Amino acid sequence: MNSSTTQKIDIQKVSTSRIGDVDFDNLTFGSTFSDHMFECDYKDGEWQNPTIKPYGPLTISPAAKVFHYGQAVFEGMKAFKDEDGKVWLFRPEENFNRINRSSKRMAIPEFPKDIFFEALTTLVKMDKDWVKPGLGNSLYIRPFVMATQVGVSASPSTEYKFMILMSPAQAYYTGDVKVVIAEHYSRSANGGVGAAKAAGNYGAQFFPTNLAREKGFQQVIWTDASDHKYLEEAGTMNVFFRVNDTLLTAPISDRILDGVTRKSVIAIAKRDNINVEERPVLVSEIVEAAKNGSLKEIFGAGTAAVISPVSAFSYKETVYELEMQKNGFATRFKNELMNIQYNRSEDPFGWRFEVV
Ligand code: COI
Repeated sequence: MNSSTTQKIDIQKVSTSRIGDVDFDNLTFGSTFSDHMFECDYKDGEWQNPTIKPYGPLTISPAAKVFHYGQAVFEGMKAFKDEDGKVWLFRPEENFNRINRSSKRMAIPEFPKDIFFEALTTLVKMDKDWVKPGLGNSLYIRPFVMATQVGVSASPSTEYKFMILMSPAQAYYTGDVKVVIAEHYSRSANGGVGAAKAAGNYGAQFFPTNLAREKGFQQVIWTDASDHKYLEEAGTMNVFFRVNDTLLTAPISDRILDGVTRKSVIAIAKRDNINVEERPVLVSEIVEAAKNGSLKEIFGAGTAAVISPVSAFSYKETVYELEMQKNGFATRFKNELMNIQYNRSEDPFGWRFEVV
């Protein structure tokens, strides 16, 4: 594998920006894309032809393996603009490492670090006007890799395309989130691909999530596939439970995504001497805590969702409501994280990465 390269990125700029056509106050998450995108192909055993070009459609064979076997992985990261117009990324090295871990699990060749960072920073610099200042505004960055070899034999592709798209974003969830605890369907299993950001992990959740939506819930909290006894993650977010003043969350395993926001919340909580338990969390203990009043908060943590408080959960046809805490842990971690991300506070952990 070619882990470093001296290849220069070929840059093709748009002749006219589309930015004037965008209503930045009324964005739907992930549906508007900035002027440029990055593309790099894997062929003959190496990544080649890194190119930044105008955002637009691809020509790709209908027989490309990605369409038949779902050999694809992705990442989610964000750029933020501070009040002086500087643009920052948040812990980008974590995303770089994770896309390569996901790729390895999906038999996709790893991507070289130097091209990743060069492409990412060049692209963000070129489209920096698409990053709007103001808390809650960001440029959501979507690196992804797909199998492009033509052929429907069920074997790993010998050709891939690595791309980065960027999409101006506001909040992922507007308002708080109601969730259903999974009793039948599963997201991941021991030895499976749950820890990878594999495209199919997300597609497989759509049907059970639709069932939850029909009942007025936005998300499913997945439980272990064997017995549905332990709480795992919410698919687009890792999940935290505050019981009295202890923070509980499922430990990282090959069933759970190693979330960047998750690990940042844990680091802040530990620094603040909050008792954090990363351990298997029983559904029954959370139901019991909801009944006896010791369950103070549930919140999700993810790049797109940031920190999303959960206002109710449903389990075995009973709905448990949670009183929304104005100054609870969710609010505290969200403010703390956003202050770091938007360069409004010190960065004691060294998480900010200045782009321009
Ligand atoms: C992210 O937070 O980047 C995610 O992966 C959620 C995404 C599926 C919208």
